[in-house]
Amino acid sequence: MEFKLCDSPWDNEEIEAIQSVIDSDMYTMGKNVAEYERQFAEHFGAKYAVQVNSGSTANLLAIAALVYSGKLDRGSEVIVPAVSWSTTYAPLEQFGMKLIFVDIDRYTLNLDINSVKNAITDKTKMVFAVNLLGNSNEYDKLLKICSEKGIILIEDNCESLGATYKGKYLGTIGLLGTYSTFYSHHMCTMEGGVVVTDDRELYEYMLAIRAHGWTRNLPTNSKIYEKKEDSFYESFNFIVPGFNIRPLEMEGAIGIKQLKKIDKMIDIRRSNAEYFLKKMKKYDDIRVQKEVGESSWFGFAMILTGKLFDKRGSLVEKLRKANIECRPIVAGNFTRNPVIKYMDYRIPSPLTNADEIHEQGLFIGNHSSNNNEQVDYFIEILDSFLLNNL
Ligand SMILES: Cc1ncc(COP(=O)(O)O)c(C=O)c1O
Repeated sequence: MEFKLCDSPWDNEEIEAIQSVIDSDMYTMGKNVAEYERQFAEHFGAKYAVQVNSGSTANLLAIAALVYSGKLDRGSEVIVPAVSWSTTYAPLEQFGMKLIFVDIDRYTLNLDINSVKNAITDKTKMVFAVNLLGNSNEYDKLLKICSEKGIILIEDNCESLGATYKGKYLGTIGLLGTYSTFYSHHMCTMEGGVVVTDDRELYEYMLAIRAHGWTRNLPTNSKIYEKKEDSFYESFNFIVPGFNIRPLEMEGAIGIKQLKKIDKMIDIRRSNAEYFLKKMKKYDDIRVQKEVGESSWFGFAMILTGKLFDKRGSLVEKLRKANIECRPIVAGNFTRNPVIKYMDYRIPSPLTNADEIHEQGLFIGNHSSNNNEQVDYFIEILDSFLLNNL
């Protein structure tokens, strides 16, 4: 028996989609990407979606668009949770922001609302909320704080595609929301990412920045640049410092197939989670993630407490030997990673809960197919571990 972090959400349809791109002999971004973006936006309830080559570049594109559109000045203070992936933070540092790391809530593993409130200064211009492991932030509270203070709210939703808060899909609550469709995420386009927004201007900046900063992908009635009739001129005309972070046409074609299955896959993840949570109730010294809204359960987080507080190393070893894959809870307390030396940052109050996650947290996988048997196997191994370690 083995329990992997993730399963493949593909069947023949995705292979056929790849083959159809090969047959067309058109590999670069084209009609499949455009159609995927249209369907993605419609499915999740956003006006616009822009596909890119990863969730990391989705974050990069979001920050670049905010800066070049004049909505976010370099040097601004941006509040971030202390627990997230490295590329939530990297684009902020690359665009000259000051990162303000605040603690997470020890139950939801997302932004601690009081810590956010206490971290706000005159220089705070944005909160970059991260929806960790499928779980929502408390958006009513965050939206209230941000609107009262005139602060932008955006979402890194790379781990929480398909999750909702009060009937809205995560990723569509902030001004911009990003997604990852890397293998092991809720849907897979090999590599891949998406940014959504309802803001037409930001959307158009993203179209230009994604592809070299040129005007070619802008609509004729663009809000950010008046295109000339001359297509020769507009084929190589640059209006903003850009990247090339375009997706491949195959990634768009696969995405269309994956979107058809996503609701069902999320339902299965939720019923797997229900099963897991029921099984975990008997352990007093293991805390699981508290759901806010309707989680899409990326994985199953656990924090070892009480008599188990110093047992993570030996449990991880036991799981490894039993072929059960597990990982730290994202980057733990990110500020304890060596990369922090490159960043301009401030930590206004102690990151106590992030530290607990750093030292006592781990997560195992959830799947897009029924994994009750693997969960049973995990429980069996956990029980034998506890028998020998307590
Ligand atoms: C919160 C978060 N943001 C961004 C990313 C980056 O996504 P990608 O791996 O597609 O670059 C990840 C990756 O898993 C993530 O967990």
